[in-house]
Amino acid sequence: VSSDLTPLLSSAARGRIVRPSDPPTPVTFDFDAGWPAPEAFPIDDFKRLAPAVLADPTALGYRSVRHDSSSGLTTYHSRDFPGRQEMSFGYTGLREQVARWISGREGVQGLTADNVILTSGATQAIALAAAAFIDPGEGALVEALTYTYAFKSLELRGADVRRVALDEHGLVIESLEERLHELRAAGVRPKLLYTIPSFHLPTGTVLPLERRKQLLALADEWDLVVVEDAMYSHFHYDGDPVPPSLFNLDTSGRVLQTHSFSKIIAPGLRIGWICGPPDVIGALAGVREDLGVSQWLARVVAEFMAEGRLDPLIEAANGIYRGKRDIAGAALREHAGELVRFTIPHGGFYLWVALHEDVDWQRAELEAAELGVAVRSADAFRQEGSSRHFRLGFGHSSETELREGIRLLGTALAASVRTPL
Ligand SMILES: Cc1ncc(COP(=O)(O)O)c(C=O)c1O
Repeated sequence: VSSDLTPLLSSAARGRIVRPSDPPTPVTFDFDAGWPAPEAFPIDDFKRLAPAVLADPTALGYRSVRHDSSSGLTTYHSRDFPGRQEMSFGYTGLREQVARWISGREGVQGLTADNVILTSGATQAIALAAAAFIDPGEGALVEALTYTYAFKSLELRGADVRRVALDEHGLVIESLEERLHELRAAGVRPKLLYTIPSFHLPTGTVLPLERRKQLLALADEWDLVVVEDAMYSHFHYDGDPVPPSLFNLDTSGRVLQTHSFSKIIAPGLRIGWICGPPDVIGALAGVREDLGVSQWLARVVAEFMAEGRLDPLIEAANGIYRGKRDIAGAALREHAGELVRFTIPHGGFYLWVALHEDVDWQRAELEAAELGVAVRSADAFRQEGSSRHFRLGFGHSSETELREGIRLLGTALAASVRTPL
């Protein structure tokens, strides 16, 4: 059936239609994606826990209720167990586990379930923050290269989004200050800064402590909401310790931290969260337009955490990623060393690779596609201007795929040199 409803689309939907876009050639070496390692998925634990939580049949309901089989009566909520609120905030048992886990990992005392709302991945967490704080025409700030969906959420809310320069240490504070003044000069109220300070996507940088403090001082001065995306902060392989999170350093309750189980357990769960002051969490629940995350999966994850399995899983995964990073880095040096420039990141899932100026990137992408290799071009991260970088995700590929795919990528790059080197 075909119809043409496009003239009826909202202004937000017009021009944003997502069309099936799989490339015509098969992709065997998918370094385009930022997925975690499937071999780290805790399949056996989930096989055990997914049916186990069904011992309470309300696990397949919208929310917790208490059924008394002897009387045949159901209690929908009471003083000591939640009911309706779970459809806004998510399963309370998992919110409690997350609050405890963040308290331990981030060194932030006193967090409770009230500080956490569960979301469909960190992506929805960011979207809720945008919905709760941005009115059309207000100012938002993001790093010059950033997570596409964060940019999109802000744009969809009508924000005037400005990009803050990055260098090899992450967000440049002077640039942030300049953008703030620019917004003010344009009569725009700067409201929200979205940032990925630890193992930044896509560049892999870690914002030093001093800059974190300067960022927070500016946020205080300009009365900004800071949305800290902590997605990769626990994937740390070597090098200096990662400085405390913005959420940890914040003393004025203006930092909201988004995170999710997508990379630390598995992306198919689609469970993330945002952590912040309880009144803000309530405001996020207020702008939510769905009925929360899966009760069943939230209970499975809560049990998984209650058994103390999350930290050992992350530690084991770090070993896997460290190995893959080293293989990917060595292969890229061996097969394309003269055509690219990159540093080995101390964490995260990506190599951020600058191209030699003689490489014709458009051609190289096509050549690579012909060989079944995909990487992600810088413009996917909202870079302005032409793409002279690409991101190579090493997280989910096997060691064999990394070695062979990067060898083929080297072939594609060599075939795309404009003038012989
Ligand atoms: C920086 C960053 N934030 C958020 C997300 C979204 O993750 P989720 O699957 O939890 O929505 C990603 C996914 O790649 C990411 O790289």
